[in-house]
Amino acid sequence: MTRTVYVNGEYLPETEAKVSVFDRGFLFADGVYEVTSVLDGKLVDFDGHAKRLERSLNELEMKAPATSDELLEIHRELVAKNGIDEGLVYLQITRGAPGDRDFAYPAADVPPTLVLFTQNKPGLADNPTAKTGIKVISVPDVRWGRRDIKTVQLLYPSMGKMMAKAAGCDDAWMVEDGKVTEGTSNNAYIVKGNKIITRELSTDILHGITRAAVLQMAREAQMEVEERAFTIDEAQSADEAFFTSASAFVMPVVEIDGVPVAGGKPGPIAARLREIYIDESRKVAL
Ligand code: PDD
Repeated sequence: MTRTVYVNGEYLPETEAKVSVFDRGFLFADGVYEVTSVLDGKLVDFDGHAKRLERSLNELEMKAPATSDELLEIHRELVAKNGIDEGLVYLQITRGAPGDRDFAYPAADVPPTLVLFTQNKPGLADNPTAKTGIKVISVPDVRWGRRDIKTVQLLYPSMGKMMAKAAGCDDAWMVEDGKVTEGTSNNAYIVKGNKIITRELSTDILHGITRAAVLQMAREAQMEVEERAFTIDEAQSADEAFFTSASAFVMPVVEIDGVPVAGGKPGPIAARLREIYIDESRKVAL
């Protein structure tokens, strides 16, 4: 089936959608994005994603091409047009397409580019990998210093995934000054006893929307949460390890740099958080 995508005010078949070769997203990775999951044909945590998008745009002095309400309508329209029950909506805004390549930002009258498309992922909630867990390697975190802004500069995370694949693993956790920052496209956690440990918010990591929801739900379920950085050694000897993201929800990590975590089996806390997160998200999805 040909997907319907959205480009600058128009719903088009994916084969007809076009963006200029001068678009700054293409030439300079001068763009921001959001990925929102869809469960039961509804958007999970839309408000959180809309708020973070606004923050990313503000941090980069980029114009918003639409209000949050308008973006919600576009998301819903695309989900409906493409018949998505479980999957993702990808949104990207760039600083637009001035007539030439120039490092300086274009004049204020150059309109931003707005693109959205869906990815159909049946079985997203029932992902069998959540029962077996995934294996990660550690890699140095050599990204820029504003990882709190959700930009489309994703080459190093892509390289991290490829390094993981080459090592027979699924993903990479990035390490800076001896401590884990985050996964290539997710936030990283360990569990010690009844305590969930994850790096505190700063410019070093993306402020995950799933992270915020999961930590709130964990606290409501009387679990202890400690926001601090941890080492790979600490993670390898933890009772559990897992990560969160809009596309994977809560996903157990069972091996780090070849060392099994807690006997190489997913743990009960990650399983419980995954269940709570998916159940609660279904109830309030838009
Ligand atoms: N990635 N950290 C990084 C570097 C990320 O790219 C992501 C999300 C997260 C988790 O954030 P959230 O819970 O808001 O999805 C953390 C998305 C899913 C992606 O790039 O596809």
